[in-house]
Amino acid sequence: MKLLSHVFLLYFIFGCMFINIIWGKKSTAKEVKPPQKLQIEKKVKALLSKMTLPEKIGQMVQMNGQYGQIPEDFKTAINSGSVGSILNEVDVKTLNEIQRIAVEESRLGIPIIFARDVIHGFKTIFPIPLGQAATWNPELVESGARVAATEAATYGIRWTFAPMIDITRDPRWGRIAECLGEDPYLTSTLGAAMVRGFQGDDLSAQGSIAACAKHFAAYGAAEGGRDYNTASVPENELRDVYLPPFKACVEAGAATLMAAFNEINGVPATGNEFLLNDVLRGEWGFDGFVVSDWESVTQLITHGFTKNEKVAAYQSVKAGTDMEMASTTYKTFLEELVKEGRISEEDINQAVIRILTLKYQLGLFDNPYTDPAKFPEVLNENHKALAKKTAVQSAVLLQNKNNMLPLSKDIQKVAVIGPLADAPHDQLGTWIFDGHKKNSITPLQAITEFLGSSRVVSAKGIEISRSRDTKGFQQAVDAANGSDVVLLFLGEESILSGESHCRADISLPGAQQQLVDTLAGTGKPVIAVILAGRPLTINSILDQVDAVLYAWHPGTMAGPAISDLIFGVETPSGKLPVTFPLAVGQIPIYYAHKNTGKPASNETWEKLDDIPVEAFQLSIGNTSHYLDAGFEPLFPFGFGLSYTTFEYNNIRVSAGQIKMDETVNISADLKNTGQFAGEEVVQLYVRDPFAGRTRPVRELKGFKRIYLEPGEQITVTFTLGAKELAFHNLKMQKVTEPGTFFVWIGGHSNATLQTEFEIIK
Ligand code: NOJ
Repeated sequence: MKLLSHVFLLYFIFGCMFINIIWGKKSTAKEVKPPQKLQIEKKVKALLSKMTLPEKIGQMVQMNGQYGQIPEDFKTAINSGSVGSILNEVDVKTLNEIQRIAVEESRLGIPIIFARDVIHGFKTIFPIPLGQAATWNPELVESGARVAATEAATYGIRWTFAPMIDITRDPRWGRIAECLGEDPYLTSTLGAAMVRGFQGDDLSAQGSIAACAKHFAAYGAAEGGRDYNTASVPENELRDVYLPPFKACVEAGAATLMAAFNEINGVPATGNEFLLNDVLRGEWGFDGFVVSDWESVTQLITHGFTKNEKVAAYQSVKAGTDMEMASTTYKTFLEELVKEGRISEEDINQAVIRILTLKYQLGLFDNPYTDPAKFPEVLNENHKALAKKTAVQSAVLLQNKNNMLPLSKDIQKVAVIGPLADAPHDQLGTWIFDGHKKNSITPLQAITEFLGSSRVVSAKGIEISRSRDTKGFQQAVDAANGSDVVLLFLGEESILSGESHCRADISLPGAQQQLVDTLAGTGKPVIAVILAGRPLTINSILDQVDAVLYAWHPGTMAGPAISDLIFGVETPSGKLPVTFPLAVGQIPIYYAHKNTGKPASNETWEKLDDIPVEAFQLSIGNTSHYLDAGFEPLFPFGFGLSYTTFEYNNIRVSAGQIKMDETVNISADLKNTGQFAGEEVVQLYVRDPFAGRTRPVRELKGFKRIYLEPGEQITVTFTLGAKELAFHNLKMQKVTEPGTFFVWIGGHSNATLQTEFEIIK
């Protein structure tokens, strides 16, 4: 019987393979308009023919700026054509002078491309990318990137190292703040929107800067959430989960990619021929250039992959890393390697062609200098209004007992408490090289402005988020006792997330839990507003507080955005772009997990406290869960409440059965059944319940942000075809297998409104 079923299974798998639709791998990056492209190609070719080998290699070198200085050796490097790009120079006078040396003094006058980490704004700081992802609003994210690009270009920066589109399922990892969450579809959609925002339709237009999709690849799969760590990712998972956002950005026209620090399955990304040559260039047809990460070329040695700097340079060029950031192995060894015949001049030419092409596309040859006066003012009202709108839409309402929020505008007195209530620097989040706290409006400032100072009493309680010092508690309790409600601003300082700032314990740091306990003891209603760079394990405060608004690090306009949400000027509409674990020990926990052979349910969860002493060990009936933390997260991916309520009904498909080349519409009715106007992010999930390679229990396949007045109802429709349901099979072919697909439409990844359709051959 067993044998028979195995035979059947094999038959089924091979049968499926035979009748699957196999989706071709090769695609092309967005093309520049042909005549323009041809012209640029001609110019690049002509220039290349005049270049000496050292000049070519110079284009592949990226040096760090000297922060407003141009030392002699720097000047020599520039006028000898030994440097193609400079990062981290933002003093526009210095930058123009560097450019003058390059354009007017170097033999061929090739302009420098200036780069910077413009991650979530330049001077006007937007919410951290993870917060922007919580908006589920591609148009807004695109506009935010445009603002960042315009402000950066005002200072001569024409290349940003963004978007960061690493999928991660580990909130311990500090760089989760910088990415767009755990899901390939959401990240692809928003990453591509950022690329469009940075680059616009025309890279040479005022305010356009080149994007750099990073970190290629699987950087977010770092072992244990420790930054820079090993990523061990099976190829199919790499292709189904970690690579799609990069492909989406390439298709959106991303000019460059950055190779990651980490190794993937034993091969560091910077020297990874499979990733850079085979997949990126071979399969996807990417024709932009690849920059290493900071010294990631020399780190090939530290990884234990190459024995010295010369081999590191060789391996990186061979793999397809066109430009070396910060370290100097290209500068030192490439000429020698070419002379020895180990690297061909043709390989060098390829890299240089890609780099020069971007410089032409950016219009740097025609307009090498920057005149800030030609740009709109940075931090202008429009930019700030957009940053505020993004902060509003990024905030996720996680709990609202008895509709505690919004507060009445007529409230007599509020106590504004907590280490993040008035922390102008920390509300900006990680990667804000050019943002400044002096431009921040804090929640305390905005709430005071809104209510008038006589109705606000404030006390920090704790000086900074990490502090264990409780001497400010009494003042906080006094403030609470004299008020109608406590607005408690908790979370993490910005430096507790970001590059290499990983945490093993992601609960509220310092004495914040004690502060919550103490304030809950006053009996006053408590509204917790959390500013953080990652999901925190906040289970322990949920019983003690009435409402929880998760604001991430919202940026310059944190205060006005949060104040408007608290007092109902705005209605929360953010949704989690990442699963919130109940306990750190559950990590990795994410919605698109596999079912396993023994999935858990509430009925099968054997709770720690229920286990009899010296219980007999069973091997039957067990399921996949933790005795002490169950199997479900604290909040699921996609979750977020509103002041109003939304009801979903009547899910239906336009056809119960479609062929491989047809599409199906999946619709549901959405009604605003509450008292407030509001926006809902309607989400579409799919499951392929039976496949030749098992599929996740759910996968996001579409979303729409919908505004509804109270009582208003609309029908929301999504369209799916076989292509959207494809995955990589055992032979690493991208296929859609015929069969039944379950679909759900709802407001989060645990939505229950379900139907199905079938794909036939
Ligand atoms: C290292 C980071 O990994 C990368 O994201 C960043 O762009 C570079 N440093 C340059 O600052």
